[in-house]
Amino acid sequence: MALKSSSDRYGTVAITIPWVTAAAIVALIVTGLMAAEQADPVAKLALLQAHLPLGTGVLALTLLRIVWWAVADKHPASVTGQSRGQELLAKLVHGGLYVIVLLMAASGMATIALSGALPAILQGTALPDFSTVGPRLVHDIGGKVTLLLFAGHVAAALWHQVIRRDRIMARMGVGR
Ligand code: HEM
Repeated sequence: MALKSSSDRYGTVAITIPWVTAAAIVALIVTGLMAAEQADPVAKLALLQAHLPLGTGVLALTLLRIVWWAVADKHPASVTGQSRGQELLAKLVHGGLYVIVLLMAASGMATIALSGALPAILQGTALPDFSTVGPRLVHDIGGKVTLLLFAGHVAAALWHQVIRRDRIMARMGVGR
């Protein structure tokens, strides 16, 4: 398969980055929610020791994806037979996912910086209280928005695949 996309199919780079990002976002939501609810400080520390590198990795992949589309690749033509409203909604959800990932990474990093938690996370010592730093609230609300956008995106993909049967998933490397 070609690295770059063609007029009717995404290329390897445009297929691989979103799938890896999606898997990492699921892991981030699970580890983030578990860390936020965790009463045991040792378990909370272990969850954050996984959450931080994953979040930083998702940020790096998203920046790489933005640069890839800006300089190296072109989107295939959109699937035919969609109303203007559906096309607009798809654009809003896709754009929203980029924005929310950038916001989540920025608010997560700001939470760590302002609480001074990085040494504790790197050395495995006692964590500070995150609830007193402002960006922690942005990260909390943003986590719920991420979940909503992600669920909307998965629902739309299933609708295309199962109801419209327009083989949209084949363009993303699933099926033929
Ligand atoms: C980019 C995608 C990211 C997603 C989707 C994500 C998701 C989440 C979610 C859902 C929560 C739970 C929020 C709550 O219910 O209150 C959370 C907590 C947290 N996240 Fe993230 N996160 C991301 C990136 C990051 C990054 C890059 C960092 C830091 C470098 C970070 C640091 C934290 C911290 C410190 C908490 C609080 C845990 C606690 O209160 O015990 N996150 N994250």
